[in-house]
Amino acid sequence: MNDSPSLYQQSYQAWRKNPEAWWAEAAGGISWERRWDKVFDPAPGPFGAWFPGARLNTCYNCLDRHVEAGRGAQPALIWDSAMAGRIEVFSYAALRDRTARLAGALRRLGIGPGDRVVIYLPMVPEAVVAMLAVARLGAIHSVVFGGFAAAELAARIADAKPRVVISASCGLEPGRIVAYKPILDAALALSPHRPETCLILQRPMLRADLMAGRDEDFLEAEAAALPVDPVPVAATDPLYILYTSGTTGRPKGIVRDNGGHAVALCRSMGMIYGVGAGDVFWTASDVGWVVGHSYIVYAPLLAGCTSVMYEGKPVGTPDAGAFGRVIAAHGVKVLFTAPTALRAIKQQDPEAELLLGHDLARFEALFLAGERCDPPTAEWAAEKLRRPVVDHWWQTETGWAITAGFREFGLFPFKPGSGGRPAPGYDLQALDETGQVQPRGQSGSLAIRLPLPPGAAPTLWHNEEGYREAYLRDFPGWYRTGDAGLIDEDGDVWVMGRTDDIINVAGHRLSTGAMEEVLASHPDVAECAVIGAKDTLKGQVPLGLAVLKAGVNRPEAEICRELVAMVRARIGPVAAFHEARIVPRLPKTRSGKILRAAIRRLADGEPANPPPTIEDPAALDEVARALGPRI
Ligand code: COA
Ligand code: AMP
Repeated sequence: MNDSPSLYQQSYQAWRKNPEAWWAEAAGGISWERRWDKVFDPAPGPFGAWFPGARLNTCYNCLDRHVEAGRGAQPALIWDSAMAGRIEVFSYAALRDRTARLAGALRRLGIGPGDRVVIYLPMVPEAVVAMLAVARLGAIHSVVFGGFAAAELAARIADAKPRVVISASCGLEPGRIVAYKPILDAALALSPHRPETCLILQRPMLRADLMAGRDEDFLEAEAAALPVDPVPVAATDPLYILYTSGTTGRPKGIVRDNGGHAVALCRSMGMIYGVGAGDVFWTASDVGWVVGHSYIVYAPLLAGCTSVMYEGKPVGTPDAGAFGRVIAAHGVKVLFTAPTALRAIKQQDPEAELLLGHDLARFEALFLAGERCDPPTAEWAAEKLRRPVVDHWWQTETGWAITAGFREFGLFPFKPGSGGRPAPGYDLQALDETGQVQPRGQSGSLAIRLPLPPGAAPTLWHNEEGYREAYLRDFPGWYRTGDAGLIDEDGDVWVMGRTDDIINVAGHRLSTGAMEEVLASHPDVAECAVIGAKDTLKGQVPLGLAVLKAGVNRPEAEICRELVAMVRARIGPVAAFHEARIVPRLPKTRSGKILRAAIRRLADGEPANPPPTIEDPAALDEVARALGPRI
């Protein structure tokens, strides 16, 4: 194991000593139309602004400047679809040309700086083209993950108020074609805000009916348009809004700015992942999540890498060797995925024979995030791949890793289960309930001393107060990550789980509160609780308990089936909500708080350990009986 803490320490200390100089140097990796007045201004917004006064265009930095520097013929994007059985390669010049044309089409539809465009697309190259085209115009995109249902899409459209929505006729999931257009139509019927135009990508597997006067064909609009040049915007202007689960049913619109984002993401490619221009980088995620935004689209292109975009699964498309095939076919140097993908491969191919049956000679390292990687899975992957396996911890809000192993510094976390060390830019501490910094080795609320680094969300969309309330109120001067954990004697960070109602299902961030809202709306349900129970494949899966209203005497199994169907219909298949149980009552404290943690422990087969304030311990026994077959 190559372990050089000194290089890491040097860079981290250099940042601590003079953060502005550190970030100004990092900003040298970006082409600016106008230089900043200050590196950081603490006055605006909830915690300040990075690079005020500067102007740039993110799309220009991702595409045009590489073409101008002579890399036009280098592959920028390789689309590998196990679902469609196709591979397409786009050079930097080709990707720039498609993007510039689509930007022309969007301009014809009235899109200019500051306008919003919602993108609801499957894993097709047009998703990258669409995101970059919006960025080219200085407009703001908001990508919605395809596994969400119409109501979730509608909530995002209602909040972002886009002038244009870009979608497709269908997505491809194993064994089924997901018709996207009916979901979009249903969402637009629900949303109080309607876009003027919908651009629809017609995929050959299923064509959609277009509504005259509202819908246009994506490819025809692109072909008919004239290319447009990038429009410089303020570094502090929003690049995108990405909605993520918060502690209530209402998703939070995480805002990303242009300047700080470009600087931090470009720097992260060398510092964390150890790749640069010309290297092939693959993130097996979805553009609908932050991991996809940052490491399928923006960071690899900012750094001049070749980014692989994969439409398929780690298993079943066609088998557990799929990741090996993609690595070998495209010469992938670094792969970034979620631990759940590894668990899926391990379950189906414990010796990794299918994976290792491919030529992995150019493969150097595996990065994991989205959920904590359980040590057995990390150890299995390191043993089979004989490459560094780096777990790194971050969240939609930060946009890039809070803690990681740093290939540029020669440091790899070698403690399976740990998320590595804080990246330069993050003063991370574990705090107790009163906001005091915990000594090394003691767990607490993981919090980042303000200001957050470039790239981290400066605010919530049209909801600055919501930002302060969600992240800054509990510990003044700090950003509360919502994760609990500890920093050990060596400085390695251990992230142990959320302190709120957010759960991670197959690396997908979901709110149990949002699911409770759905269950509570069933006419027979008096009250309910949803918890995240351990799952050997997905890490966690949601499990719902419902108390029926007095007098309801319909079969319980029928009501449970309805509850499962309601969550799928309202939140979407991605919620993976398959288990609901009826209980006579919910265990509560004397003040009426539902004991969700005790229920979760029971569901995981552990002792419930209820607090002394429990109102009636018999209620827990009833829950244990209802969960019976699970335990
Ligand atoms: N559009 C429509 N539906 C989608 C979808 C999309 N983009 N993505 C997922 N779904 C559906 C799936 O078809 C599935 O539906 P089903 O209930 O009818 O089977 C449901 O949502 C759950 O999907 P998923 O969580 O992907 O579970 P799975 O059982 O199909 O696959 C894994 C399990 C582990 C193979 C899969 O979760 C995986 O590859 N995970 C990688 C994790 C990842 O990329 N995380 C992103 C954050 S880094
Ligand atoms: P998201 O915003 O969807 O990226 O989800 C962020 C949340 O996922 C974090 O707050 C953590 O709870 C969890 N998470 C992501 N990566 C890791 C990791 N490497 N280790 C532990 N938890 C993680």
